[in-house]
Amino acid sequence: MRTIRVNLDKNSYDIIFDNTLDELRKFMSNYKKVVLVTDQNVDKHYGQLFTSAITAKLVLPSGESTKSQESLFWLYDQFINLGVTRDDLIVAFGGGVIGDLTGYASATFMRGVPYIQVPTTLLAQVDSSVGGKTAIDMPQAKNIVGAFYQPKAVFINTNLLATLPKRVYNDGMAEVIKYGVIRDIELFNMLGQKDLDHEEIVYRCCDIKRLIVERDQFDTGERMLLNFGHTLGHVVEQFYNYKRYTHGEAVAIGMYTMAKIGVQMGITSPGTPELIKAMLSKYKLPHHFTINPNIALNIFSLDKKSQGDMINIIIPKAIGQSTIMKVNKIALFQYLKNL
Ligand code: NAD
Ligand code: GLY
Repeated sequence: MRTIRVNLDKNSYDIIFDNTLDELRKFMSNYKKVVLVTDQNVDKHYGQLFTSAITAKLVLPSGESTKSQESLFWLYDQFINLGVTRDDLIVAFGGGVIGDLTGYASATFMRGVPYIQVPTTLLAQVDSSVGGKTAIDMPQAKNIVGAFYQPKAVFINTNLLATLPKRVYNDGMAEVIKYGVIRDIELFNMLGQKDLDHEEIVYRCCDIKRLIVERDQFDTGERMLLNFGHTLGHVVEQFYNYKRYTHGEAVAIGMYTMAKIGVQMGITSPGTPELIKAMLSKYKLPHHFTINPNIALNIFSLDKKSQGDMINIIIPKAIGQSTIMKVNKIALFQYLKNL
């Protein structure tokens, strides 16, 4: 069993790779009450795994629309009915939707009850379960209400990925490719192999995220690297009202496009966009998208990384190396026009 320690002073915790779930059951046994929050799809596949170890199971509909005010208040109601206190444990068992929602409910109920993340999608295992970003969506914007609230532990079982629909799996693979491009050429090359060692891949991603979160827990500097491809990805998602492309597909387009822009800027080594494109294609992820640069500029202005006329963008120098650049939005507009 492998473990990664995330060192955040009194908020430190372990990411435990536990394919037997024994460690997870042991951890749960330390608490008086254990309330598991999950969604219908995960419940269908894995709902029976913890029956004897939990006090109650709360099952929500699957999908992004569950990350809502309604679900949040429903969870508060259930916690009150169950008599949850700060001595109890909440378990987020699902993908990023369940992880973000349950994390935020745990952060705010009684001003903070302990919770753990048990991620079941590739995206959640490599990204959303680690680092303490929790949130719900509002009708006007995604992730607009949230908190930094670290879990007490993260338990990862890569066997759970076997039941993921192909498109959901590939969606997570976009985030894995992101880690390879920003920090780890060996990881990037592993993704080109025929048989993938999922535990090793998830481990490497979590270790990169650990390092970045330890250095910049509250997302004011280096943590922005994790947003490689996301600024333009959000433009793509929003342009299609979150209907045409999944998050990972939009990020894939964003990563390729930022590498092309990096070449124009003279920062990205030539050939890098093509390497990214080939890897994206292997996982059926798109790379090309045409958007009116004026529309992109408007949407960019709402981005959290936008500051007045300037915006922070993440540019790969080569596979495995990347940098954060502050650029003028008009300059970015020109780069987009020249693509
Ligand atoms: P998701 O949670 O909606 O899961 C995708 C689909 O897979 C759902 O239908 C779910 O029911 C199903 N599913 C989950 N596990 C399964 C399994 N093992 N087998 C079969 N089906 C399974 O989506 P996601 O991609 O995991 O997460 C996306 C969310 O994560 C977004 O809301 C995004 O904003 C958030 N996110 C948060 C962070 C963060 O740092 N907190 C980072 C990235 C993304
Ligand atoms: N998913 C980006 C972050 O955690 O910062």
